[in-house]
Amino acid sequence: MRVLGISGSPRRGGNTDLLLAEVMKGAESQGAEAKTIILNDLKITPCQHCDACFEAGVCKIKDDMQMVYAEMEKADRIVLASPVHFLGLTAQAKAMIDRGQALWARKYILKKPTLGDSRPRKGLFIAVGGMKLAHLFEPSLATVKAFFKVIDVEYAADLLFPGVDEKGAIKKHPDALKQAFTAGQNLVTE
Ligand SMILES: Cc1cc2nc3c(=O)[nH]c(=O)nc-3n(C[C@H](O)[C@H](O)[C@H](O)COP(=O)(O)O)c2cc1C
Repeated sequence: MRVLGISGSPRRGGNTDLLLAEVMKGAESQGAEAKTIILNDLKITPCQHCDACFEAGVCKIKDDMQMVYAEMEKADRIVLASPVHFLGLTAQAKAMIDRGQALWARKYILKKPTLGDSRPRKGLFIAVGGMKLAHLFEPSLATVKAFFKVIDVEYAADLLFPGVDEKGAIKKHPDALKQAFTAGQNLVTE
């Protein structure tokens, strides 16, 4: 069982990274092979809507997204993590998701499996935000659910923490990191 963690936060060691690391540890505790990608370290050009992917389901932009496609294809579980930036996902996460258009083309234009095969895949979404606002996560949730649906990843669970702002503030939450570890365990055992 391979688990791919994708962090969309620009803040290394911040709240998103801390939660994602616990999820990955939880998955590894059950024997899963875990790999984490930090989008902020990668060069991912935003989708250019050139429709070149309609030909063969392959994006013609040869940047680090090519590695992300390959890792997603190898993964049985995908954990996408992003703080809220202006009520949505970070630009890093959204750029990666928009490049999923090539996977959309595989499915809806070419009628092929989005990630190379049809094995059942599951996804977990992690989000944190500084505000304590009703519906804080709704825009991010809508986007991530749409992304997982397009790439045929079952939306298995999420971890959503409002009111978490300063770097490392998630450590003060009574049980967020424990919840994350358990979610990682459940993701690979359920
Ligand atoms: C550009 C930017 C925009 C933000 N917009 C929001 C927002 O709309 N709502 C919110 O609750 N928090 C917002 N935040 C706060 C972050 O979500 C919060 O600090 C979070 O804990 C950061 O997580 P990280 O440490 O994983 O990067 C914003 C932060 C930045 C830098």
